Amino acid sequence: MKTLKGLVLSGGKGTRLRPFTFTAAKQLVPIANKPVLFYVLEDLVRAGITDIGIIVGETADQIRAAVGDGSQFGARITYILQLEPLGLAHAVLTAESWLDGSPFVMYLGDNFLRDGISKLVDEYQKSGADAQILLKRVPHPEQFGVAIVEDGRVARLIEKPPPPPPGEAPVSDLALVGVYMFDQSIMAAARGIVPSRRGELEITDAISWLVEHGHTVRPHELDGRWIDTGKMEDLLEANRLVLERVERNVRGHVDEVSTLVGDMEIGADVRITNSVLRGPLSIAAGSEISNCYIGPFTAIGENCVIRHCEIQHSIVMECCTVEDIGTPIESSVIGRYARVTRVNRRPHAYRLTLGDYSSAEVP
Ligand code: TTP
Repeated sequence: MKTLKGLVLSGGKGTRLRPFTFTAAKQLVPIANKPVLFYVLEDLVRAGITDIGIIVGETADQIRAAVGDGSQFGARITYILQLEPLGLAHAVLTAESWLDGSPFVMYLGDNFLRDGISKLVDEYQKSGADAQILLKRVPHPEQFGVAIVEDGRVARLIEKPPPPPPGEAPVSDLALVGVYMFDQSIMAAARGIVPSRRGELEITDAISWLVEHGHTVRPHELDGRWIDTGKMEDLLEANRLVLERVERNVRGHVDEVSTLVGDMEIGADVRITNSVLRGPLSIAAGSEISNCYIGPFTAIGENCVIRHCEIQHSIVMECCTVEDIGTPIESSVIGRYARVTRVNRRPHAYRLTLGDYSSAEVP
């Protein structure tokens, strides 16, 4: 059996995750204090795939700085520059010479599969199929590429099918998960298609091409949880899924009047004073928490200062200050170096300095 290479897609525009993607690659947005891309790399390595190419675009420097040569993951990383984000099938063509005829797993750098891909890689290798796609039943198939499966075979794929008329079932509710297994036939497919209406070489069209040209595309319906972290609500959900399994590991300094309940990871040099922490949660190194309630499913990044407030079910990225907020904060995502503070001068009005495409919801 041939060993597979891994192709991770970390280019793209990330428009749906603005404002965070104005300054950072979306694959580096933290989930439980670790970039989503790191979960992808760890998952590949767990499946025995250590020769990994990462497609990078505008944010190449940041991705390189975070991942390095891959030794921290036990992998060997090659960076492959895609000059413009012209679609997932275009990314495959960009990697053609690096792939050098090897079969491969293509993994979207912002996708999160809680239970990993090891079994699926094994199945693909044993199946002898040209390609294998992962499918997951979803309530809103119109937001995804979907597959129509007949007699256990992929018959057709449709990119973002129009919603069905009221009362009717959708053509398919089986969405394509962002992990694919291909042999070299995908190259001919990617060359055989034309850009879609949005100007991209779509991977769904390339897979349809395989089916139409008599190649076997094996469908596999995923049991475990899958999240495409490209949207704000999904970030919090991925954060929740990871924290659900966090193990207790408390470092830093906790004073005697603070209470820590449940599982949580607390990093080095964290100072916790007069606070109640109810896990599962994660607080990264160097942060200060005083006179707070930090509730379940919260991740606080490195070097934050959080005083006199209550936060739960939220992501607070590194170097933030959140101070003296009377109303509990929940289901919020706060970007790096943000400040949320209270002032006592008149007029008693909200003073907001929000970046482009930010959102603030006030009661
Ligand atoms: P998408 O989320 O489909 O695209 P995007 O990153 O442009 O985001 P948005 O729609 O919010 O503007 O991309 C899925 C993954 O593939 C993501 O990690 C980015 C990556 N990608 C590439 O590497 N090259 C590409 O040409 C495209 C379109 C995406």
